[in-house]
Amino acid sequence: MSRFFITTPIYYINAEPHLGHAYTTMVADAVARAHRLMGDDVLFLTGTDEHGQKVERAAKKAGLSTPEFAARIAQKFLDILPVLDISNDDFIRTTEPRHRAASQALWRRVREKGHIYKGKYEGWYCTIDEVFVPDTQLKDGRCPICSNAVERIAEESYFFRLSAFQDRLLDHYERHPDFVTPEARRNEVLSFLRAGLEDLSISRTSFTWGIPVPDDPAHVMYVWFDALTNYMTAVGFGDESPAATKRFDSYWPADVHLIGKEIVRQHAVYWPALLLAAELPLPKRIVSHGWWLMEGAKMSKSIGNVVAPQAYVSRFGLDALRYFVFREMVFGQDADFTDEAFLTRYNADLANDLGNLVSRATTMIHRYCEGIVPAADVSLLSRPEERSLSNTVDALVKRVGKSVQSFQLSVALREIWDAIGAVNRYIVAREPWRLAKDASRRDEVDTALFVAADALRVIAELLRPFLPGTAERTLRMLGVEPSPRAWASLTRGDLAPGTRLGEIAALFPRIEHTVQELRQMTDDTKPPVAANGPVQPSTQAPLHPSTPAPVSIPAPVSTLAPERISIDDFLKVELRVARVLAAERVPKSSRLLKLSVDVGTEQRTIVAGIAEAYEPESLVGRTVVVVFNLKPAKLMGVESNGMVLAASPEGGKPTLLGFTEPPEPGTRVR
Ligand code: MSP
Repeated sequence: MSRFFITTPIYYINAEPHLGHAYTTMVADAVARAHRLMGDDVLFLTGTDEHGQKVERAAKKAGLSTPEFAARIAQKFLDILPVLDISNDDFIRTTEPRHRAASQALWRRVREKGHIYKGKYEGWYCTIDEVFVPDTQLKDGRCPICSNAVERIAEESYFFRLSAFQDRLLDHYERHPDFVTPEARRNEVLSFLRAGLEDLSISRTSFTWGIPVPDDPAHVMYVWFDALTNYMTAVGFGDESPAATKRFDSYWPADVHLIGKEIVRQHAVYWPALLLAAELPLPKRIVSHGWWLMEGAKMSKSIGNVVAPQAYVSRFGLDALRYFVFREMVFGQDADFTDEAFLTRYNADLANDLGNLVSRATTMIHRYCEGIVPAADVSLLSRPEERSLSNTVDALVKRVGKSVQSFQLSVALREIWDAIGAVNRYIVAREPWRLAKDASRRDEVDTALFVAADALRVIAELLRPFLPGTAERTLRMLGVEPSPRAWASLTRGDLAPGTRLGEIAALFPRIEHTVQELRQMTDDTKPPVAANGPVQPSTQAPLHPSTPAPVSIPAPVSTLAPERISIDDFLKVELRVARVLAAERVPKSSRLLKLSVDVGTEQRTIVAGIAEAYEPESLVGRTVVVVFNLKPAKLMGVESNGMVLAASPEGGKPTLLGFTEPPEPGTRVR
């Protein structure tokens, strides 16, 4: 079993977690989960970076002691982990004793090897990014990274002999072409290195919120010296016990430091140089992702343009957010976070492609096979359609594994969605609903449904790292044991015939809201940006699912002009808004549903011929339009008191009329 040690950056605690932080953590989570399924012994570390002057100042502003303030915000980073279903193995806070010990041990080691000396630092400093800014890099007198004002500092400082490591770093880059990815980041680092390195100031005396320098407590360590060390603290560095030493030897060096692109220099130059100085092994890979932007600007606390992940999770579910960020951001590049893109991805990819496929396949197994996975007829599996789908599924496991290993999550998801499309096309080509009408073609029905359900099982297993909840729910619907299947043994054809399916539930109810409504809802739930205030709990009801995405294709509009009627004629038909309170199948009918609806003034029973297009559960809560003044009629023994309106294409499935802004039941439609 190989070890896989993956880290996120540790997050500054001057502000609450936002989507930018959540993204890094979610990507690391997906990769860690995938490696577990690939059989690795995974150690997934995240945490908080709590020292430095900006935290000291933020605490003062909040009227709290610095440790109290630190604990309060660190807790928010801890609290968001279960919200995002993060599977980290450790959470490190740099204020923990184990970390003080590790940072001081590293300092001593670098000092003993002769790479630290005392001097005086004079220059510009950005407290937001915790970086020294040379005169030549100032942008209009401001920080080149965050554009905030820089401060002049002039104080005694310890220095790390960074300049002495230029050649060794260049040599390391030469020998390890994948040390920093993507390529663009690697090239940036190389040009920085080739331009020559200056020694790095690694201590401060003008504030006290930091780890004291060993043997000179008037100095606290430069926050990056302390922060970078966290990666070794977590695996036992600085702890002399045999257990910790063993742990360090088996987990260090880290396999991947996953970081945002703004902190590449610290990880790809300072950190390896410090490790070379301490004669310790270097991390294997530094993988950097791009930024989430809002209207072109980096999402960040200092600009105030942040998205609160919790708002999206509570409205649309965690997996909708995870899917969106993994799929939308091409790894390494920047991406805009827009509600338009969120809504499109949700409705098209999740509700329509995945959600409909799962509901379609399982519904057919319920309808044609009494809810039991049928057995395929082996002789039918060599037909071109079956072979083509099998090839797609066979190739998928490897492809997804490869994409995840290179952090190309959007590619991995595209590959999975291509397979979802292939299953959809297979079902359309086989038409089990048509075959089912002919008893002599029973084997073909069984084969088609087995092949589709089995492919879905493999797809769901592969979705586990990305959308853990959705994967489990899909597998449960397919009657598959919830315990994860190692990817190495994940093969097509393993779904056991005779398995009883679980209950069907809509995975991603279609969102019928406009982007404006969506924005309104998410804005209302954004937690206040101030780090010291309490987070307002969301008072809004969760977004109500309306219905699974319609599966029918819109009917062509007839070109024959019908006879015209007067407005008076039209107004004789009283159309009203109604809300579905309950829905069930009419016994012995494949077409009819019995609905109980609220029509504003009363509750009524209406029988509707929509059972082939809608699951009864999915209709509850949905707003529809009914003919209110229709004479009652009995359908299959049930009295129907009105009629529900739907677009009904010739030979196709009906699509219910609905609203993007549902009015109150009883409202007249005209
Ligand atoms: N504390 C340092 C890291 C020390 S690691 C030894 C730090 N913290 S941070 O809180 O400012 O940012 C941490 C990480 O959050 C970034 O590297 C990046 O991974 C992520 N992001 C913060 N804003 C982001 C976006 N707008 N978009 C994507 N990720 C971003 O730097």
